[in-house]
Amino acid sequence: MQRLKFDLLDENGKKVTEFDLLGKYSVVYLFPKAGTMGCTKEAQDFSNALEWFKSHGTNVYGVSRDRPESLKKFKEKHQLKVNFLSDGDGEFIRSLNAQKYGVTVRSTFILDRWNFIRWSSYNVKVTGHVDEVKSQLEKIIKEDNSLNHWIELRRARRALREDEISDELLKTLLYAAHLAPSCANKQPWRFIVVRSKDVLSKVHEALSGGNYWMKKAPVLIIVHAKKDMACQLSDGRDYFLFDLGEAVAFLQIQATQMGLVAHPVAGFDPIVIKNILSIPQENVVITIIAVGYPTGDLSQLSEKHQATELSQRDRQPLEEVVKYV
Ligand SMILES: Cc1cc2nc3c(=O)[nH]c(=O)nc-3n(C[C@H](O)[C@H](O)[C@H](O)COP(=O)(O)O)c2cc1C
Repeated sequence: MQRLKFDLLDENGKKVTEFDLLGKYSVVYLFPKAGTMGCTKEAQDFSNALEWFKSHGTNVYGVSRDRPESLKKFKEKHQLKVNFLSDGDGEFIRSLNAQKYGVTVRSTFILDRWNFIRWSSYNVKVTGHVDEVKSQLEKIIKEDNSLNHWIELRRARRALREDEISDELLKTLLYAAHLAPSCANKQPWRFIVVRSKDVLSKVHEALSGGNYWMKKAPVLIIVHAKKDMACQLSDGRDYFLFDLGEAVAFLQIQATQMGLVAHPVAGFDPIVIKNILSIPQENVVITIIAVGYPTGDLSQLSEKHQATELSQRDRQPLEEVVKYV
């Protein structure tokens, strides 16, 4: 997805950049020339619908190569309400591939609250265009306000395939974890990626009986840290485990998007793990994450785990854990 960047002047000669658009949806429409029939009709249509756009948290910007003064006259003459931006040298229009034989191609872009272009239309026909933009915008807003797809999909799955995971995918997974926030940006997380058969079989010995299913995982990630690697507040709050939890959560969401299972567990002997991997005694090995591709073949699982694999997600009602005041 392309994220929009620009630095233009509005009809009053005031500089406007992508930072001014952040936090709101934007409709950015490019038009060939102020004052011509099609461009006037399009600006009027967007102006007439401006209240609707505003009520949907959206600003509308018309961009052309006209100078700010011309755009100002155009706006005043027809009592237009949209914001206008002047792209004198056409650089912005060209960056959107909307110039042909030196002429601006009538085009419209819908940007989300982070300025990502979510929808575009080139060679726009003015009649009925605003209605189409409205319906596309409604779809995007609905999608953005829905529960995150990968969060919804993630489950603690146990039926795994033994297929290897490429270095590149593992790197992306670990980088996602590393992008997690941490108190004072201390990044206390430490990961040991176990994938050699030799070390994997040693780690398998440290797993609790109920975690037999992890033996199919091609990769086990050991997550550890020491208290003083993170924030330690004078009132006794230690943040190292909180930070580690953030990182593991990020890793799980990234894994789900990549079609992988990342299942963290507590059921293992940390002393054995420390000895196998030479982790300092004062560190806490908080979890081992089993990483692998899911399989629908549940025959490798116990009856109990087969049932869990097919179960609906089990959560207390939200009202039990949330209080609004
Ligand atoms: C810190 C932690 C420890 C866990 N330990 C184990 C474990 O040792 N073995 C296991 O099979 N699952 C383990 N799980 C998975 C949980 O049982 C599972 O996340 C929970 O039942 C909710 O199910 P869901 O993740 O599918 O929504 C653990 C999860 C977390 C976050």
